[in-house]
Amino acid sequence: MKNLLVTGGCGFIGSNFIHYLHTIEPSLRIYNIDSLTYAANQDNLANLKGKANYVFIQGDICDSDLVERVLIESDIDTVVHFAAETHVDRSIYGPEAFIHTNVVGTFRLLEAVKKVWLSQENSNSDQFRFHHVSTDEVYGSLSPTDPAFSESTPYAPNSPYSASKAASDHLVRSYSHTYQLPITISNCSNNYGAYQYPEKLIPLVVLNAMKGDPLPVYGDGRQIRDWLYVIDHCDAIYQILTRGKPGETYNIGGDTQLTTVEVITTICAIMDELLPQSAVLPHNQLIKYVNDRPGHDRRYAIDATKIQNELNWCPKTNFQEGILKTVNWYLQNLDWVEEMLSRKDYKIWLEKNYDQRGEDK
Ligand code: NAD
Ligand code: DAU
Repeated sequence: MKNLLVTGGCGFIGSNFIHYLHTIEPSLRIYNIDSLTYAANQDNLANLKGKANYVFIQGDICDSDLVERVLIESDIDTVVHFAAETHVDRSIYGPEAFIHTNVVGTFRLLEAVKKVWLSQENSNSDQFRFHHVSTDEVYGSLSPTDPAFSESTPYAPNSPYSASKAASDHLVRSYSHTYQLPITISNCSNNYGAYQYPEKLIPLVVLNAMKGDPLPVYGDGRQIRDWLYVIDHCDAIYQILTRGKPGETYNIGGDTQLTTVEVITTICAIMDELLPQSAVLPHNQLIKYVNDRPGHDRRYAIDATKIQNELNWCPKTNFQEGILKTVNWYLQNLDWVEEMLSRKDYKIWLEKNYDQRGEDK
């Protein structure tokens, strides 16, 4: 791995991944292509600006000419593909952008990589790797007693978001099977940590609690997610890139199944301690039950045995430690927080998704 192309590197996980790799592989040249959608923030990578081994390219992954040019001119040997539309609620209001980026974008990227890497001059495919970052949501929803998702669980996506990610996974897999493109895929559970756009549960709750705004719980709040600290996800992707087998899929999870209400009350308790002067103590008085998300998946859980056994990976940060670091990060990065809160798109989103939402009785 000498020249790495990251797609979607100005988003939440992509920017954490670039920071992580820059620290552990300082000589690696990292190219970041990102179209800067509402979810992006270039400030996430401000400290890398101007560094010789980091290059930012503003562009859409659907732009095949641009992607091909970057692959050739920068002699890219590794691609880690994060770029996507990622918010389930937004996919319910407007699925088209999800099809554009997640399906068409992944297809165009695969075509460009196939053309450049599998050309005659570059016939040794061992030197290349295309890693596709995907989600546990492709497997659908579990009942309380179902076993956790393994790599052989059948796909059953329930939202336009998860359906578009499932389509992209199938495309990536098919390029390995049909064209022997050296790919790997990972399906990961819910991440949390620094730089997450505050439309997602954890940063939304931290920021709303800071402002004294309601903490919206969809439905009965007993939906279960398997939470993973984002740096552990970055480490898992690095292990797959460096030691994973081409053609393989790896599930990644935090082994931490919690209900929405458990997550919110944990955050509230931390904020009670960190902000003893707050006007809204205890913060859990802000919890408000609102109408459920249509088609809301009840439970996700990941069986990460394969990546544990084959690559010796397991999460290093437990939830109590990770969530404390995360809450502290948002409280200590008020410039970042203020910039996000002041964005027009964010205000429009809050109005659209929450203002008209009835209370759940
Ligand atoms: P995010 O929404 O924070 O960031 C997505 C980034 O992709 C943004 O910077 C955006 O500008 C960029 N982008 C979107 N469309 C683009 C396009 N057409 N061309 C170029 N760039 C484009 O996303 P995230 O939460 O960091 O997720 C990253 C990846 O990880 C996604 O593929 C997602 O499906 C997957 N994933 C996320 C989670 C999670 O909990 N957040 C869990 C499992 C898997
Ligand atoms: O499982 C991995 C997935 O996790 C990723 O693929 C997605 O990109 C990522 O957005 C995330 O999807 P979720 O829908 O699980 O995450 P979200 O933060 O939107 O919601 C987490 C849970 O909290 C879910 O059960 C819905 C609930 N929720 C969410 C919001 C935003 C609420 O109760 N209230 C809210 O306001």
